[in-house]
Amino acid sequence: MDFKDELQNKQIIVNDLLLKYLPNSSFEYDKVIFEAMKYSLLAGGKRIRPILMMQAFEICKGQDVKQIEPYMAAMEMIHTYSLIHDDLPAMDDDDYRRGMLTCHKKFGEDIAILAGDALLNNAYEIMIKNSLKESEIITNNKLLAMKEIGTAAGVRGMIGGQVVDVIDKENVDLDVINYIHIHKTSAIIEASLTSGALLANASCEEVETFRKIGRCIGLAFQIQDDILDITSTEAELGKPIGSDSKNGKKTYVTIKGIQQSKEKINELIDDALQYLDNMNSNKTEFLHQFILYIRNRKK
Ligand code: IPE
Ligand code: IPE
Ligand code: MG
Ligand code: MG
Ligand code: MG
Repeated sequence: MDFKDELQNKQIIVNDLLLKYLPNSSFEYDKVIFEAMKYSLLAGGKRIRPILMMQAFEICKGQDVKQIEPYMAAMEMIHTYSLIHDDLPAMDDDDYRRGMLTCHKKFGEDIAILAGDALLNNAYEIMIKNSLKESEIITNNKLLAMKEIGTAAGVRGMIGGQVVDVIDKENVDLDVINYIHIHKTSAIIEASLTSGALLANASCEEVETFRKIGRCIGLAFQIQDDILDITSTEAELGKPIGSDSKNGKKTYVTIKGIQQSKEKINELIDDALQYLDNMNSNKTEFLHQFILYIRNRKK
């Protein structure tokens, strides 16, 4: 298997289904909100979260990935909403995202706030509609997956992390940074994996293993994001570098330095791979490579 080709194929699958699940405007007056949702959602994201969901589903012997498409689309919509709001002047105040002007720079703050809200609500609408449909996946599992996703996106997950990220920048030590990263970033990554596993009717043990894998990958992912904010270029990242220092944010790198931050990433990725290898499944090869790609990513 060529990993790069395989990754590209999966990204194309995700992009196609995002287009399929985006709502269209039915009349002239409100067209702009549909344009703003589409603009941010279809800009070139890496699609890490839906791909993780797909992998957990397949590893847990889920039969037909098409069955979880609405949940994959919903997860990417929730992630994109979090990015639109993260970039707003009241939050990180950034002008570029995914290689394009941020939603508020293109459409104005009012429409960007509403586009984020609309993507979030659309995500739940898609999942709820699907949970009412008959399919091979039983309703209880669909509801459990939605609960994982809702909790991860909420105040005990991503939003909780974002809150601590934007307040009290002075008293931030490594414990606080860990809290921020585990909530603002790992929570959604964990839920991508656990919901994929639940939709495949996985055992509790498998779901909990994926939660641990997600915790490690998510923390490593955000530490890498903090490093790239210093070492990368805007052209490569598709978003501004120096955003953290501009906002006076302490990060893993400002506290531990680049070398120790890289060592921490390696430890976390080794742990994630160990958990994965212990699952004794013959379907883990792509996820194994994907976890290494997350470690080595340049954007
Ligand atoms: C950016 O996430 C926000 C963080 C959690 C660091 P990604 O790096 O996955 O962004 P896209 O989806 O590829 O644009
Ligand atoms: C934000 O972290 C994570 C989210 C929940 C959106 P950052 O603020 O570091 O993400 P980027 O660097 O803007 O993508
Ligand atoms: Mg932020
Ligand atoms: Mg930001
Ligand atoms: Mg960042």
